[in-house]
Amino acid sequence: WGFKGHRAIATIAEKHLTANTAKAVSIYLKGAKMSEVSTWADENKDKTTAPWHYLNLPLGLSHEQFIDAVSKQGSDNVYSAILKEEAILKDKTSSPDQKNEALKYLIHLVGDAHQPMHVSRKEDKGGNTIQLQFDGQGTNLHSLWDSKLIDHEGLSEAEIVSKYDWANPAQIKKWQSDSPMEWLWESYQVSTELYADIKPGQRVDDTYYQKYIPTVHLRIDQAGIRLAGELNRLFNDTPLKT
Ligand code: ADE
Ligand code: ZN
Ligand code: ZN
Repeated sequence: WGFKGHRAIATIAEKHLTANTAKAVSIYLKGAKMSEVSTWADENKDKTTAPWHYLNLPLGLSHEQFIDAVSKQGSDNVYSAILKEEAILKDKTSSPDQKNEALKYLIHLVGDAHQPMHVSRKEDKGGNTIQLQFDGQGTNLHSLWDSKLIDHEGLSEAEIVSKYDWANPAQIKKWQSDSPMEWLWESYQVSTELYADIKPGQRVDDTYYQKYIPTVHLRIDQAGIRLAGELNRLFNDTPLKT
């Protein structure tokens, strides 16, 4: 996601933290708000961490084949990076600086795991090389999903959060019980549909926008709520000095 997507996810997550988790998060972030650190991982232009934001796989895998392929991907991908940062946050021997960095990564990467085009094909760099037209300008399938559909909606940050965060308690409970592997499987299923639904060079019309903007809302809300779920599991029982 771009700036607006990541900030919305972090703000939604913040609304779903327990009081103790919110305190722990604030300590680890040295007083910064989650939205303020949500794009830090993209600002750091270090080439070695670029693959931590996505997962590339061939299309057409069954659920079982998908799990198998993800498990065999090695360490530099969004799945392994999420597990690694969570392990750092759980480890009592991690330093405050290590936890600060791990938390900034986790806030960002749970978001990217929910962007369908971040679980996508290697050949086209997750849609980056699939050129499209939208709003009278050239773009590509990846950028369309990172930011262009959200920009087209024209909402402020506060409006995005109130419009996208609609989940009821039963939905929240279900989403927070799904594992990172399931979040990625959902993204993979959506990206499979997105690849089939557009051809290189095509103009993205209002029908496409109307069809998929609810999916953008859903993925951002799920990312925020699941991020809160992970943080509540990690930090709710953290003893804090008063
Ligand atoms: N961003 C940059 N390269 C990418 C890739 N290969 N897949 C998904 N997202 C990306
Ligand atoms: Zn992206
Ligand atoms: Zn990213």
